[in-house]
Parts: sequence; structure tokens; C-alpha cells
Amino acid sequence: TRIYVPCDSAALSVGADEVARALGAEAARRGLAVDLVRNGSRGMMWLEPFVEIETPQGRIGYGPVRAADVGSLLDAGLLQGGAHTLRHGPVEDMDFIKRQQRLTFARIGVTDPLSLDDYRRHGGLAGLERAKAMTPDAIVAEVQASGLRGRGGAGFPAGIKWRTVLEAGGPQKFIVCNADEGDSGTFADRMVMEGDPFMLIEGMAIAGLAVGATRGVLYIRSEYPHAIDTMGKAIAIARKASILGPAFDIEIRVGAGAYICGEETSLLESIEGKRGQVRAKPPLPAHKGLFGCPTIINNVLTLAAAPSIIAQGGKAYAQHGMGRSRGTMPFQLAGNLQRRGLFEAPFGMTLRELVEDIGGGTASGRPLRAVQVGGPLGAYFPESLLDTPLDYEAMAAAGGLLGHGGIVAFDDTVDMAKQAKFAFEFCAIESCGKCTPCRIGSTRGAETIVKIAAGRNVESNIALVKDLCTVMTDGSLCALGGLTPMPVMSALNHFAEDFRRAPARDAAE
Ligand code: NAI
Ligand code: SF4
Repeated sequence: TRIYVPCDSAALSVGADEVARALGAEAARRGLAVDLVRNGSRGMMWLEPFVEIETPQGRIGYGPVRAADVGSLLDAGLLQGGAHTLRHGPVEDMDFIKRQQRLTFARIGVTDPLSLDDYRRHGGLAGLERAKAMTPDAIVAEVQASGLRGRGGAGFPAGIKWRTVLEAGGPQKFIVCNADEGDSGTFADRMVMEGDPFMLIEGMAIAGLAVGATRGVLYIRSEYPHAIDTMGKAIAIARKASILGPAFDIEIRVGAGAYICGEETSLLESIEGKRGQVRAKPPLPAHKGLFGCPTIINNVLTLAAAPSIIAQGGKAYAQHGMGRSRGTMPFQLAGNLQRRGLFEAPFGMTLRELVEDIGGGTASGRPLRAVQVGGPLGAYFPESLLDTPLDYEAMAAAGGLLGHGGIVAFDDTVDMAKQAKFAFEFCAIESCGKCTPCRIGSTRGAETIVKIAAGRNVESNIALVKDLCTVMTDGSLCALGGLTPMPVMSALNHFAEDFRRAPARDAAE
């Protein structure tokens, strides 16, 4: 009997290894033949470790399983998919799975991440095979037809970026994958690297063919040791199978923990061995990127979307979504929600559907008060804006951003003045220090919020914070300083009462 126990780090953090060991030992003790496969995670984090059994009725899921449950599960006929309080039935029929449109995550949780055969059996390498028979121009045209936009956060059309690099001259070009996933509440890149590493390798190889690049660099944050390990092994397997080689090869570079190294030009500096500081644009990396060469730099999810786009055609991908946001987005549900995890859906569902219906509302059972979308630089949405559709333009029109698809929910115990202070503090800690509004403004901003929270000259200090936010928005070189005002201003605009709680203590300062 085949049993699946995830090796995704979210599952490992709640004891998946212990469960796998206990299952192996107990099955051996009982003389049961089991074939234990370590798969990626299905993304239902509240059910991890989520164990699956292959049966004639399909895969049956159990979770969350602890090592101590293994005995009772086997007693209940686990290997035949038997009844147990932890049983959830056929995985494909589970509401959280059934309601998704998994294009990028189609194989994740299904296959053994490091089995190339399994990858092939589930449609892997079809995109690369097709790309090999296409001209670079045709590959880029397919990506343009898909409407794919950069999944790192900015949503720039991937096809236009690829075309820019294709048309740039020069003897050497690079494909750089940004896996420095630093946004709070995001984990989709990590899940791809741990759960379907060959898909990312295939996506980078397709990008290489599309623009004539022979070298790829995968920049992974050091906080992702399992992803680094899995990607390293997958790259070695791909080399052995001649998927990677002299025509296109990938090396891994590990970041050292700076949020700003997720900004593309800092990331390039970091790969070049320099301090992670933002470069002024232009020149764009597409013209002068790594070591001054034309470079495609894309997020993990953008490159991971390429294999299915090339295999199935750009048009098929573009059929999903709304407006100018085509395809699907792997949303990441985090914070105070009952059901946290990865939910891939076409653009266009509302924030309310995602947090209330899919996420099940708050885990605490208290009223939902704020939802931050798009990481630490994203806006806080109040209840009155929850009907905003999740699409790049609609989110921007509501004063927010979709970013990398991270959704963090808060109940009514949240203090939004504290959250605003946190935004400034985060910027102060992570600032690369190159420009004044960000380097100095973030610290002054945090100090001013402390004064407001203490009731000191509240109205004039709020005016000061708003003024500072305008300066940071207009005067910062990159998104860190430029977008920190977004969470601050959304807190001030939508949760004004939290800034006026302390008794007023107006005095000359
Ligand atoms: P940007 O708008 O400056 O650029 C987006 C991308 O398009 C870049 O790769 C840029 O080089 C490229 N580009 C722009 N014009 C081009 C042209 N004419 N031809 C070819 N390429 C072109 O945005 P930026 O600063 O790269 O990203 C900001 C976003 O990053 C924010 O909106 C935020 O959501 C997101 N972010 C994501 C994080 C994460 O962990 N994934 C962390 C922090 C921020
Ligand atoms: Fe550096 Fe901040 Fe300026 Fe960005 S805005 S370049 S992080 S100082």
C-alpha cells in the first residue's frame, strides 16, 4: 500500500518526520507492506501532517496526524482507507481542494517532488519539449498571449519582460529566479520549490530558450533550508537526465536574510557579491542586469507558470481570471483564520469569499476586523472593503495591492496604531539606507506613532505622519520606502479610532 506523508517544511514543523518514522516502524512491527512516499503539501496547513493512502477509490486523507495516532489509525484499517475521527475522505472531494483551479499547484502534494518519472507521468517536461521545437519569438508570443503578469508583486507583463530580453543584444544573458520570498504570510514559492522543484527548473529552462540565455541563477533566502536542499537535489537529477547542461544550467545562490534582497536590483548586487543595495532604474535589469548583461528576473511563481503555458498554450491560461489579470493566483491564507493554507484560484474572487468562506473566518471566533493583503507593504482592508475582487486593478483602486498574494487576517483585538508603528519599524530595520525618506522617515514615523498612541498632540502628529507618508511615497527609490505608507495610511484612514484612544495630552513639543 502506498502512503504519502508530506516533506514540506510546514508539515515537518508539526511533526511529519515523526509520523513517517512511526508509520514505518509500526507497519514493520505488524508485518504490513507499505510504500512510504514523501510528497509535497496539499496546502491545507491546519490538517498537517496530512497523511494520504492510495486506495481503489482514490487517495484518502487523514489529518492532522500525530505519531501517537499511528497505532489507532492502523487498528482502524488505515491501509484500506478505514473510518477514523481523523479521516477526511477522498482528497479530491475535499471542499478546500475541489474549489480550487490548480494550474501551478496541480502536482504539488500529488507527486514525489524528487521523482523525475513521477513528474513526467503528471505532465512534466511537456512544456520544455514543445518549447524546443519552437522559435524564441514563438515562445515569447505564447507567454504574451497567456497574459501572465509578474507574480512577485508588481504584476508587470511577463511576456513584455521576456521580449525585452530577447531583443537585447549581447553575448551572455541570464535567467534569475527570485526566491527571496520575504513577504509576511507568504509561502507559495517555498511550497513550489519543496513540492515540485522540476517545474521551476523547467520554467527557467523555457525562459532560457526563449531569450537565448545559457545560465540561470536561483536566489533562495537562507530561511528556506529545505527548499535549498530540495532544489539542489533536483538540479543534480536534472543534470544527470540532461535536462540541464551546457545549453542551460542553473546554480543556487543563498541570501543572507535581508528583506531588501528581494528587490530585484539588490538581489542582483547580492549575487554579484556586493552589499544588497538598490540600484537606480534605468537601466532595467532586462537591458543591464546581472553582471551588466540582459537578464530575465522573475519570481518563482511566474517562472513556474511557464511550463503549463507552453504545454497547453497561452490562450488556455488566459481563459481564467478577470480584466487584465489573467490566469490563476496561488493565494496564501495566514493569520487569524480557521483554515490557513494555499488556495489557487483564478483572479476575481472577492476578498470576503477568500477569508470568510474559504478561510472559515477567524480562528479565535471573534469578529474579523482587518485583512492585510500583499505582505508588509500592503494595505489593511476593513470589513467594508471585503467585497473587493482579488485582481491587480481592483485592489489598486481600493487603495491596496495584491502583491505576492499573501492574506493575513486579524480579529477585533488588533490595535491598528500598533500595526502602523510596526510598518514603519519594519521599514527602518530592512531599509538599505540609500535614500533619506526611507532611512530616516521610517524611524521618525515610528516615533511619531508612539506619541500619537500616548495621546500627545494627536491631531498635529497625525498630520505629520500623513505628510511624511507623502514624502516617502514620492521620494523613495524603491518599493520598500515607497510602499510603507500603504499599510500606515490604510490604518489611519480605515481605523482612525485606534489612533485616538489615549486621553489627549496636548503640549508644546
Ligand atoms: P516595478 O514596477 O518597478 O517593476 C516590475 C518589474 O517589471 C521589474 O522586474 C522591472 O524590471 C520590470 N519592468 C518595468 N518596466 C519594464 C519595461 N519597460 N521592460 C521590461 N521590464 C520592465 O516593481 P518592483 O519594484 O520590481 O516590485 C515592487 C513590488 O514588489 C511591490 O508592488 C510588492 O508587491 C512586491 N514585493 C514583493 C515581495 C515578495 O516577497 N514577493 C516583497 C516586497 C515587495
Ligand atoms: Fe533603500 Fe529604502 Fe531607498 Fe529602497 S526606499 S532604495 S530600501 S533606502
